[in-house]
Amino acid sequence: MNLVELNKIANALVAPGKGILAADESSGTIKKRFDSIDVESTEDARRDYREMLFRTTEAMENHISGVILFDETIRQNAKDGTPLVKLIQDAGSIPGIKVDKGAQDLAGAPGEKITEGLDGLRARLNEYYELGARFAKWRAVIDIAGNDIPSGYSISTNAHALARYAALCQEANIVPIVEPEVLMDGDHDIDRCYEVTEFTLKTLFDELYAQDVALEGTVLKPNMVISGKKCKEQASVAEVAEMTVRCFRQSVPAALPGIVFLSGGQSDVEATAHLNAMNEQYSDQMPWGLSFSYGRALQAAPLKAWSGKAENVPAAQAAFNHRAKMNGLAQLGEWSD
Ligand code: 13P
Repeated sequence: MNLVELNKIANALVAPGKGILAADESSGTIKKRFDSIDVESTEDARRDYREMLFRTTEAMENHISGVILFDETIRQNAKDGTPLVKLIQDAGSIPGIKVDKGAQDLAGAPGEKITEGLDGLRARLNEYYELGARFAKWRAVIDIAGNDIPSGYSISTNAHALARYAALCQEANIVPIVEPEVLMDGDHDIDRCYEVTEFTLKTLFDELYAQDVALEGTVLKPNMVISGKKCKEQASVAEVAEMTVRCFRQSVPAALPGIVFLSGGQSDVEATAHLNAMNEQYSDQMPWGLSFSYGRALQAAPLKAWSGKAENVPAAQAAFNHRAKMNGLAQLGEWSD
């Protein structure tokens, strides 16, 4: 493991004014996104869509530090034969790869999930490194439902798997992004989200320590502390910012170079406003870089503008440019709507 190199990549992912584009939708998820714009999810359509994003030069060069890819995409070429990975690298951005194989039912815990994908991971990571990946992502899914979900069992098994994945990544000189996503579905209030997120993060960092993962070469991708989508009382932007930063200060070690949020179903403007409020008001209290690793909050507007038509590419790229720029400003705490 080359910790100096890992640390350099981790810091680059949270460089000032920049964050990550999560474009690693699995085949099932991208089909759902394409269904929403009435486009059939063929290999060519997926290529055209992602090529459109990666050729958005202004956004890619100035605001996108790295791009998370799906297995198909890291092997795919643009229409003119250029590898998609090269488009990302040529824009000065870092290619990354989703390596988990999705969440499955956790035995003995009805309603809870465990993320799979550890078998054979060492060999896959070595191949992804050769293909250009310098960071990876593994997402654990923690649901909140009633008083009994999540169980301590589901949190600890997911944290254990995240740490095993992270240790294997570092062995392969790939920066692990560890993503324990506490879902915002449900009617729970923001206090319940705080409690579950804090417990999850403390458990995760215990496991990373137990498995000797170097925090200097790791990035955290968490949810924000936020009200459940169906909760009657929705917390304000100021409350989300204050409680999220407080939660992280309690549970995330200072040695970690960066934290990059998932958007998790927030609207694109909400995701920008929350990130901006944290960086604007609390930058002096945060030892880590705080940025974005958004999927939906970066792609919803360009996906809609594109709608599968070549003639819409300029409009889609303008939409992607705009959101990337707004989130870049939010990383600096300089965004206003
Ligand atoms: P969203 O920002 O759409 O939640 O996606 C980010 C991601 O990579 C989830 O794993």
